[in-house]
Amino acid sequence: MTDHHPHGPTADAAHHHAPLRTPEHTAAVERALAALDLDTKVRLLSGQDMWTLPAVPAIGLRSLVMSDGPVGVRGQEWNAQDPSVALPGPTALAATWDPELARRAGHLLAQEARRKGVHVLLAPTVNLHRSPLGGRHFECYAEDPLLTGEIGAGYVRGVQEGGVGASVKHFVGNDAETDRLTVDNRIAPRPLRELYLAPFEHIVASARPWAVMTAYNQVNGATMTEHRALVQGVLRGEWGFDGCTVSDWTAARDTVRALRGGLDLAMPGPRTVYGAPLAEAVRRGAVDESEVDDAVRRVLLLAARTGCLDGVPAAVSPDEVPRGIDGRSVAREIARRGCVLLRNEPVDGARRALPLDAAALRRVAVIGTAAREARVLGGGSATVFPEAVVSPLEGLRAALPDDVEIAFAAGADPRSRVPHAREGFTLRARYLAADGQLLAETAQPDGRVQVLGRFPEGVTRENLRAVELTGGFTPRHTGRHTLAVAGTGELRLTVGGAVLFDGRCAPQGGDPFEGFLHPAEQRVAAQLTAGEQVEVTLRFVPDGADRGEGPAALTFALGHRAPDTDAEAEIGAAVRAAAGADVAIVVVGTTEETESEGADRADLRLPGRQDELVRRVAAANPHTVVVVNSGSPVELPWREQVPAVLLSWFPGQEGGAALADVLLGAHEPGGRLPTTWPARLDDAPVTTVTPTDGQLDYAEGVFIGYRGWQRSTAAPAYPFGHGLGYTDWEYESLDTTPDSVRVRVRNAGDRPGREVIQIYLAPTADAAPDAPERPARWLAGFAVVEAGPGESTEAEIPLPDRAFAVRDAEDDGWHRVKGVYLVEAARSVEDRRLTAEVTVG
Ligand code: BGC
Repeated sequence: MTDHHPHGPTADAAHHHAPLRTPEHTAAVERALAALDLDTKVRLLSGQDMWTLPAVPAIGLRSLVMSDGPVGVRGQEWNAQDPSVALPGPTALAATWDPELARRAGHLLAQEARRKGVHVLLAPTVNLHRSPLGGRHFECYAEDPLLTGEIGAGYVRGVQEGGVGASVKHFVGNDAETDRLTVDNRIAPRPLRELYLAPFEHIVASARPWAVMTAYNQVNGATMTEHRALVQGVLRGEWGFDGCTVSDWTAARDTVRALRGGLDLAMPGPRTVYGAPLAEAVRRGAVDESEVDDAVRRVLLLAARTGCLDGVPAAVSPDEVPRGIDGRSVAREIARRGCVLLRNEPVDGARRALPLDAAALRRVAVIGTAAREARVLGGGSATVFPEAVVSPLEGLRAALPDDVEIAFAAGADPRSRVPHAREGFTLRARYLAADGQLLAETAQPDGRVQVLGRFPEGVTRENLRAVELTGGFTPRHTGRHTLAVAGTGELRLTVGGAVLFDGRCAPQGGDPFEGFLHPAEQRVAAQLTAGEQVEVTLRFVPDGADRGEGPAALTFALGHRAPDTDAEAEIGAAVRAAAGADVAIVVVGTTEETESEGADRADLRLPGRQDELVRRVAAANPHTVVVVNSGSPVELPWREQVPAVLLSWFPGQEGGAALADVLLGAHEPGGRLPTTWPARLDDAPVTTVTPTDGQLDYAEGVFIGYRGWQRSTAAPAYPFGHGLGYTDWEYESLDTTPDSVRVRVRNAGDRPGREVIQIYLAPTADAAPDAPERPARWLAGFAVVEAGPGESTEAEIPLPDRAFAVRDAEDDGWHRVKGVYLVEAARSVEDRRLTAEVTVG
């Protein structure tokens, strides 16, 4: 079995099998445009609501629908009424280092989009892992621009081959969340070009996205929704991007500056700086109608490509699109191929800790809150609502033989907020008019009611007065239960006829998404008896502001926690379960509060007492396997005290099944780190993301991620590119020319495996004397290969010109830096196996 897929910055348009029909579309767009008056044109540049553009029946234009992105297609509902397949998180996808797999993810997402009537997916997110503190780190791919660009290009190709537009985001510099709406990121030309713009550039060149989303933040003094130099100059002018730009949600602030800056679509609606204000600006002569026309052309082209414009076929005809894809199996495959085995040592001098030998197991301890309440995705706009998730506990139960006993213990609950009411509750939400009339009723899987973009049928912003979350609760335990109410507005909680809370909750934080996702919480206690059902009603009257203009949005929640269990006792129970088991599997991770959109992390510690939990479990059982369930790096201070550490990232809805596949050895963990894992935050190249006087200085220049670690005296916990798998690889030969390298590797283990061959370029001392300071080495290409035991296989990996080039400090071009370079074939940036020299003249 041999197979390989090489990837370098030039692997490109060859993959395009779908004709883009550009001439036909251009003609149709011109016809449509000619039939529009100014007022209709400006309406088309503005959302009509949270996710859609207006239809214009007179020109055969249907309403174009957009949706987040990137792990699934949420659709127009922000709730579980219309579930979506939830794929593993972007860091997991990037950890596969496999653009072809990203492309297959894209095919599935396009299928999901079509099912939900979505034309444009607001994804992928290709900002960089500049600092591990970034709140949306989990939603971006990597610290390296080449890896990010390749995965992003595969993803875009897949989505668009499925006939759905991809909107690559956030252009550019949205690498952290703190003050994201206003921060001015000061980025010099070299890092801007060599790092932050590079993934966008590669995706535009090789996958031709139909849309790009401009970021909230500023870059070098101009906000990205008005950044003429980068949008009109670089994206369109230099790179030839022919698609549509869309603002990040609510980011467009100034009619004339946005239009001049190259922004086509202001989202969401109905009130934006486009629409009527834009028509008015044309009429008073502040902008020329021809500039409006250009933006409308690009919106119409997007509509034509996605099949929303009558009289011209969509870019991909419906019979060309990949279909019949099983979302669950794609989710499971990506999850196991993204798992990164960081460490796998022998236990008591015998076998390595993983894979487990199921036949030899009698009792398995499964420990950790996240082992039972699976945390499958990160928070914010990346949220989707899967129909069902497989937790690690369920995945292991299903995979282990029936006679293997599983002992579960939560150990240490790291969540600081009270979890949404679920177990023992049967709830529904009743939407009520001012006169008490029932407008709509929905079943609620848990105690969280969220609407963003579209109210349930029959409900409007005008007729809605209150929402009641109501139903029965049958407690499992007798004692003092904690209930929590959260929301922005008036809340009234009744339990068994008694009013336990009646008051207002005020919004918290400045970021709109933070307020929506994590509204302020108030706690009350209720003495309840096991098995005795009580009626529970939480009545919510949204703040007036929420019912005024703007898109439909409301959020409130009922939380519940069973009678206080003593944390010490919980850890004690976990230790006992571990001591009596053949193996202890501890799932640790971040919580909904730590990794989400709208805020950055303050540190990289595992929340709560999880570090202590791991240490005490490991002391009780030498065969302890730690599974890290987080989208971004966390500190693992106990890592040398346990024989195995496996990253599952945010593994998507089939995460537990994939985890069992990997732990029990049905499949190897195929991932390699797309980003360096620091031992301590303080060692990382960029340790603050907090602006000073509104500015965030990218002072480290091009030295982020491994580029920075290589000039530091501190060693990371695990380097970029690291990941073990279950077989061994020998690097046999490396042949190189200035254009490409050929690497031969042999699977020296006793089972089939997959290897990610990484090619680094390291300039020698002999490089051109006037060369600017460069990293010690950088990733220049990679390939995924497969081979059976004992087999060898070869990969040819292109070395593109750009790999040897630096951007001029004045930003006036790329310069190929002459000299002698080492070409290194490696298993990680630290584990370099073969070296050759190449001279660039
Ligand atoms: C996010 C975008 C997202 C948009 C719509 C914004 O807050 O930054 O990534 O696509 O919301 O949900």
